[in-house]
Amino acid sequence: MKATVALLALAVGSQALVARTESCCTSITAYGGPGGLVGQLSDGQNRIGDHSLPTGQYCLGADGGFVDGQGRGCIFTPPTTQYQCDTGANATTGFSISCNGTISYHGQDTFWACPTGQNGGYNIYEEPIKNEPGCVAIWLEADSCHAECPAPPPATTPTPTPTPAACPAELTGSWQFPHLIVTVNSAEPDKAYGTQFNGTASGTISTIFNFDIPASYAGKECSIEFLFPTQDQLETSAYTYSPGMFNFAFLKGAATEETTSANAPEVVYNFGNFELKPGTATHIGQCPNGCAAGEKIAFSMSAVGAASLNYFQDYNPCPIGAYVTAQ
Ligand SMILES: *[C@@H]1O[C@H](CO)[C@@H](O)[C@H](O)[C@H]1NC(C)=O
Ligand SMILES: *[C@@H]1O[C@H](CO)[C@@H](O)[C@H](O)[C@H]1NC(C)=O
Ligand SMILES: *[C@@H]1O[C@H](CO)[C@@H](O)[C@H](O)[C@H]1NC(C)=O
Repeated sequence: MKATVALLALAVGSQALVARTESCCTSITAYGGPGGLVGQLSDGQNRIGDHSLPTGQYCLGADGGFVDGQGRGCIFTPPTTQYQCDTGANATTGFSISCNGTISYHGQDTFWACPTGQNGGYNIYEEPIKNEPGCVAIWLEADSCHAECPAPPPATTPTPTPTPAACPAELTGSWQFPHLIVTVNSAEPDKAYGTQFNGTASGTISTIFNFDIPASYAGKECSIEFLFPTQDQLETSAYTYSPGMFNFAFLKGAATEETTSANAPEVVYNFGNFELKPGTATHIGQCPNGCAAGEKIAFSMSAVGAASLNYFQDYNPCPIGAYVTAQ
């Protein structure tokens, strides 16, 4: 098996020493076949599976050739392509070690191991021996002489396109915005605050919303909705808000600009308390007398406990505030 190459041993030996100063030396582990550390016979044959052999030392030079621990160039010897390290041989070049340690020869990282019939040993080849069914594919890894592989780039999450989320609710079909908004304050029961643009509910301050129900709504059902977009969905409106519950009540009659807490229309139906939150649309309830076609209706909004809300009633681009819808 051993093809003896004994040419110019001394001259090439000094050349090999030069190469070794630029090289990195490693043991090699085989995967596939019997696997394990690549050992070496004293004559320079590389072998796996024979645990009686000392572990080989392989130094990869800048030229891409391995030289063994004794300075022998490692070559694929014809005709079998057995990989062995021969005194005086110029190492076969074209080897590289990837960051994970895998050894490649001209980009090919599969080698072959064929049984020797001695001590369970296998020799290493570039190509399988023809008509030798015992040959198996193997991979060789350098146990050192490679840098850490760079960390994989962080998974690229698709850049979120900042499309504004849908409004909590859109107003479609028949709907009305309040035609009069008045503030009343039970702490100042006789004060008329007059027309407001804001709906306010905080402490003793409540808001009454008037709606003029068109005659065309006759026979329909009218519902009260409270729409509360998030601030980033609003362009022309804004709000100040402390979370909590808000009470809505349907009133006996409509408010006027002179309405005060003391003379406000009385409650005929209490819808109850609702938790109003940014990003929600709240169905307060159906108007208790259906759609009062051609009439004014009114309901009030007041804060429970520490809840508070002061918002600019608007409907563009996301409607905010109290609305009456009909269907
Ligand atoms: C080794 O390489 C040198 C320089 O290329 C060459 O002169 C020498 O003949 C080669 N030796 C063998 C054994 O091929
Ligand atoms: C090591 O790296 C080489 C080249 O990048 C690759 O082909 C091979 O699959 C890797 N091996 C392991 C075990 O990750
Ligand atoms: C109405 O609400 C807006 C937005 O919160 C606020 O800037 C403005 O001061 C309020 N106006 C009144 C009179 O409360």
